[in-house]
Amino acid sequence: MSVPTSSPRHALAQEASTAPAPRPGIAALPGYSRSAGKSTVRWIASSNESAVPPSPAVQAAIAAAGAAANRYPSLAGDELVSVIAARLGLGPGQVLAGAGSLALLQLLLSTYTGPGDEVIYAWRSYEAYPILAGVAGAAVVEVPLDASARHDLDAMAAAIGPATRAVIVCSPNNPTGTTVTDAEMLQFLHRVPPHVLVILDEAYREFCLPEHDAVTLLAGFPNLAVLRTFSKAYGLAGLRAGYLAASEVVTTMLRRAALPFPLSRVAEAAAVVAWSESEGTARTVAGIVAERDYLTAQLRRRGILVPSSGGNFVWIPAGTRARELEAACLQRSVSVRAFDGDGVRVTLAGRAASTAVLAAVDALPGLTRQTPAPGAP
Ligand SMILES: Cc1ncc(COP(=O)(O)O)c(C=O)c1O
Repeated sequence: MSVPTSSPRHALAQEASTAPAPRPGIAALPGYSRSAGKSTVRWIASSNESAVPPSPAVQAAIAAAGAAANRYPSLAGDELVSVIAARLGLGPGQVLAGAGSLALLQLLLSTYTGPGDEVIYAWRSYEAYPILAGVAGAAVVEVPLDASARHDLDAMAAAIGPATRAVIVCSPNNPTGTTVTDAEMLQFLHRVPPHVLVILDEAYREFCLPEHDAVTLLAGFPNLAVLRTFSKAYGLAGLRAGYLAASEVVTTMLRRAALPFPLSRVAEAAAVVAWSESEGTARTVAGIVAERDYLTAQLRRRGILVPSSGGNFVWIPAGTRARELEAACLQRSVSVRAFDGDGVRVTLAGRAASTAVLAAVDALPGLTRQTPAPGAP
């Protein structure tokens, strides 16, 4: 049988008109930003990862699990779920494991929100929020951070309307590092109607000392879901492991919508061992907190109003000079993350990296004298 031929231009036009169309809104979603120069620099300070590789015991668990990769993993990250639930004092039914907290956030938003619904979150915050709400088909309501770069919880509560199905609170907030206190969170939860899901994203909670525990709030608020990750303090960003704690009312519905086998064997085995290494994690966190204190103090000495950070990163409110500062850092072989018109986020990556960032700041005349963007301590 002969195949009819046509000109390439004709074929392309025909392909575009017949190509499968995604759901409305998908084509307009923003993409995730890529770190500039991450593969070529000496110090990576752009993605809020840990600079500390996994411990020998975690590496051994990774190798052992890899050797059994011909077998499927547990159906729902069962061993990890049970050790997490035991330590948090929750029933195993209240914990879900996922391929990073991002996967669990997507599960939450696609299970509880959709077309016609609204998702509220503070802005600027984590760049995944508008994307994942958009993937679920929901509209977003972005409530500006206050003048201290903190969540404006009063304004967020006031923004809740008939279409609101979920509110995301990010504490410590990426990228500003600012935190919501336990008392503020409790007060906020009292203001949110019980049919609205509150997602508390605590990706950086381990760096926020003294530690607080939002999980204790679950007993009083069945509409709360707490998201945490092994990517930051536990140093397993490359394996993808996170968890969620919520009431069984919520987790039962999430299990219906979740994919089976959410964690690879390797990720689960590594996370179980990392979870048991409390002393090592505390040492890593202490080192990062000490470096955070140093860099924050040095920047403030230069007149930059750096907000107090509860994360493994520091926010430099460089305003319109964010890209310039990013380029100056790259020139000194350190990759940082610039947010146009707002500022630059610097992941703590050791003293040499901090020194390079400070040299970049010093090389930009006037940066320290500008009127700072929101972020005054
Ligand atoms: C606030 C916040 N939430 C969630 C995540 C995603 O973490 P995970 O690696 O667990 O998907 C990040 C990663 O940078 C983050 O900054």
